[in-house]
Amino acid sequence: EGVRVKVPASTANLGPGFDTLGMALTLYAWIEMKPAEATVFHLHGENLDGLPTDKSNLLYKVAQSVFDEAGVSLPELEITMYSDIPLTRGLGSSASAIVGALYAANLLIGSPLSLGRLFNMATALEHHPDNVGASLYGGIITAVWDGAHAEALRIEPPEQLDVLVAIPDFQLSTSKAREVLPKQIGMSDAVYNISRASLLTAALTMGRLDLIKDAMRDRLHQPYRASLVPGMGRILEEATEHGALGTALSGAGPTLLALVDRTDNQGEELRSFLLGVLGNEGITAR
Ligand code: HSE
Repeated sequence: EGVRVKVPASTANLGPGFDTLGMALTLYAWIEMKPAEATVFHLHGENLDGLPTDKSNLLYKVAQSVFDEAGVSLPELEITMYSDIPLTRGLGSSASAIVGALYAANLLIGSPLSLGRLFNMATALEHHPDNVGASLYGGIITAVWDGAHAEALRIEPPEQLDVLVAIPDFQLSTSKAREVLPKQIGMSDAVYNISRASLLTAALTMGRLDLIKDAMRDRLHQPYRASLVPGMGRILEEATEHGALGTALSGAGPTLLALVDRTDNQGEELRSFLLGVLGNEGITAR
């Protein structure tokens, strides 16, 4: 009578696609939900320590919003969550919790809401569509949101594409990483990014990994965020000399992301370069 869903972490922006592009990673959270006599939570994993275990819990509130939308009453729930996704590191942990809870709650009542509806609810909660889109649809997504309505398309990642993420040992809140961004940008920077986000989307769709290096550059957010992540500037400049197809800040950071061609066998060199620059532990994920 209960349901269990597995939901991926995600990386947002992919460099030039600020608030637009996202990609699911092979790093996961699991959410179980079932009707109960009294609401109870089981939150496993050190990442989830300190989250509320009453009805103020986000997973509970998100589930209730699905039931409200579907006209169903299910006030008491047993909710279990296990997560391997580090919090506040630019890997979409809050987006995966929101998407997991929306999807599980919908499944529990026979899936009356469409994926598009769940995507719109998730985007409204998260305030940007890129992480939730990737967690919900998987693969690579390109998304738009005008504050009221969100649309996304999924792109199948090229077969040889692999991802290395270097996760620094400190947390950086999305709001802090958004505060450093300018309110206005110039036309030349806008064109710089539109052209690269478009080229990157087409290159990923067509498997043109040779174009990723040029296509992943960005002038809208990374230059302003570089001061928040020690080593970031050097990694964005030099990682392509150590086997990366391209590099970016993962979402709002501090995680750094490198795209690699798995047939190149340069993962080890790249990994030691990233760890050497960051000077601490990183984690590998797809
Ligand atoms: N697109 C968002 C940002 C992602 O860069 O602020 C946050 O994870």
